Amino acid sequence: MTERHRAGLIGCGFFARNHLHGWRDLGEAVELVAVCDLDAAKAQAAAAAFAVPRWYTDARTMLERERLDFVDIVTTMPSHRPLVTLAAEHGVAAIVQKPFAPTREDCVAMVEACAAAGVPLMVHENFRFQSPMLAVREVLTSGAIGEITWARIAWRTGYDIYAGQPYLAKEERFILLDIGVHVLDLARVLVGEVERVHAETQSIRPGIAGEDAATVLLRHRSGAVSVIDCSYASYRDPDPFPETLLEIEGREGSLVLSPGLELKVRGRSGTSVRSLRTPTLPWTAEPWHVAQESVLNTQRHWVTCLEAGREPETSGRDNLKTYALVEAAYESARIQQAVRPGA
Ligand SMILES: NC(=O)c1ccc[n+]([C@@H]2O[C@H](COP(=O)([O-])OP(=O)(O)OC[C@H]3O[C@@H](n4cnc5c(N)ncnc54)[C@H](O)[C@@H]3O)[C@@H](O)[C@H]2O)c1
Repeated sequence: MTERHRAGLIGCGFFARNHLHGWRDLGEAVELVAVCDLDAAKAQAAAAAFAVPRWYTDARTMLERERLDFVDIVTTMPSHRPLVTLAAEHGVAAIVQKPFAPTREDCVAMVEACAAAGVPLMVHENFRFQSPMLAVREVLTSGAIGEITWARIAWRTGYDIYAGQPYLAKEERFILLDIGVHVLDLARVLVGEVERVHAETQSIRPGIAGEDAATVLLRHRSGAVSVIDCSYASYRDPDPFPETLLEIEGREGSLVLSPGLELKVRGRSGTSVRSLRTPTLPWTAEPWHVAQESVLNTQRHWVTCLEAGREPETSGRDNLKTYALVEAAYESARIQQAVRPGA
């Protein structure tokens, strides 16, 4: 057996539990040797629950004392740049949760620091790796609906996300950075790179600092047009949380992913319907199952790339393009005009 990759996880809060389960499932390839959180109780509890040998409250101390191959950074974005650059200084690769950082300058600094240190950097952009999205990507690459002309990618809910993530209510740049970043990333992956962005944002729920709904119109380089809409103030029955819904039209057919994850494909040879639901894992539960499972899929992609010496699909460099769409959307909403995304 080849030696396992030695990992340290930084940030043992709300979402880290999914990462911890994922690494445990990948235990043949990855050995989680340490966890770290500024809050000792959280670090200690995570280490105890997942049988991780050591815990720390300071990432620098962890990086100095442990022989790590990579760190998995599951903290909120203000700490991403200092933690990624710290890992790079120690010659350690990094996975960092989305959103990549508060500013583009921070994102570029992380990409450059890891490139200079010669270590891989991946953004944990897990929506691409949700099982339904992987299945849709296969349908599209099979050519079943022909060249894409139009798409709608929707993520709408009234679910109380503030209960688990209270910090979101204080974000001045809110849903476009939190969920828009995922959905805009999907637009790149499913439809292609983007030439022009026009966005409208709304702040609907009282008492929140930023926008909780955004509707973005994209013109893709291929000529396709897509509508990206996300809302945390969408009260529907049933509430599709946390499903990403799709309507994609091509020159020779169409594809619709509806609530409940039913996929209908109309192609040259007729119409087919199938469910894209996958069974729950021992540690996942409805309705979060698809999101939880995608964490494991993302981690598996990282391990595969690490072993093959290949750049991950969602490398820091790649994520700069997604981040550019978020920035363009904010700018468009501000100046009330279409904007070309930066490089
Ligand atoms: N990809 C997804 O589907 C998804 C879903 C939810 C959250 N997230 C992202 O995950 C990240 C974490 O979110 P969360 O809700 O778990 O946040 P959280 O606030 O619950 O947890 C973050 C933890 O990091 C710790 N921390 C902060 N700075 C640190 C530092 N310098 N060193 C060590 N520990 C530090 C905090 O003490 C806290 O316990 C966010 O960026 C969020 O956007 C992603």
